Amino acid sequence: MRLLQAIPVLAGLAAAQTVPTGVTVPEISFAGTGCTAATRVGAAVTNPTLIAVPQTVYTARSGVNGTRLVDTRLNCQVLVKVNHPAGWQMSVAKADYYGRVRLPQNSEAVSKTTYYYSGQTRNVSTQYYFDGPFDGAYFRNDRFLTTASNKLWGPCGSQTMLNVNSEVRVGPLGSGISREGYMDMYNLLHDRIIVDWRKC
Ligand SMILES: *[C@@H]1O[C@H](CO)[C@@H](O)[C@H](O)[C@H]1NC(C)=O
Ligand SMILES: *[C@@H]1O[C@H](CO)[C@@H](O)[C@H](O)[C@H]1NC(C)=O
Repeated sequence: MRLLQAIPVLAGLAAAQTVPTGVTVPEISFAGTGCTAATRVGAAVTNPTLIAVPQTVYTARSGVNGTRLVDTRLNCQVLVKVNHPAGWQMSVAKADYYGRVRLPQNSEAVSKTTYYYSGQTRNVSTQYYFDGPFDGAYFRNDRFLTTASNKLWGPCGSQTMLNVNSEVRVGPLGSGISREGYMDMYNLLHDRIIVDWRKC
């Protein structure tokens, strides 16, 4: 009974305007060792909470040099320019990635993404470690909830430059010697990042 009483309060909150209108993505650019440098026009925005980001797939592959596994690191930095009405700010809420890893014994891989906004010094990042032996698909679910301490809001203005820098690294574990391994990264699930909006 007490739980039911809370429902009208939540419904009242949901009725407030929670997203701006007229959001556009004039430009998305890519740069890094894992992707070809390119600038594209963003897709039309029909729902301001869904920002379409074309996926870039790249593979870090370690190799054997003599008897030692050589560490390989690749990254792709995606800069998403978002125009929106003044008085709003945005924040990444969710991004899901998937990839494949094949790691022999004595090797490790790291899949990491750092999110930040141009003009601000803070960033938030997530990273996942895999220790060999491992062979299979993996999913990464980055979640930055409104109540979470790692929630990072963009500037309060009419343009937000969202930077999403993803990297993969494959290398030997400690001083281990092993066969080669690889990791695929930056397969953005559904080609989109989900963002939150608030008035500022
Ligand atoms: C292989 O190792 C040798 C000796 O440590 C080094 O000079 C060379 O640059 C390495 N090659 C690669 C591709 O890492
Ligand atoms: C993110 O912040 C950390 C420290 O808070 C810093 O060391 C790192 O270089 C920053 N990364 C980027 C991509 O700005």
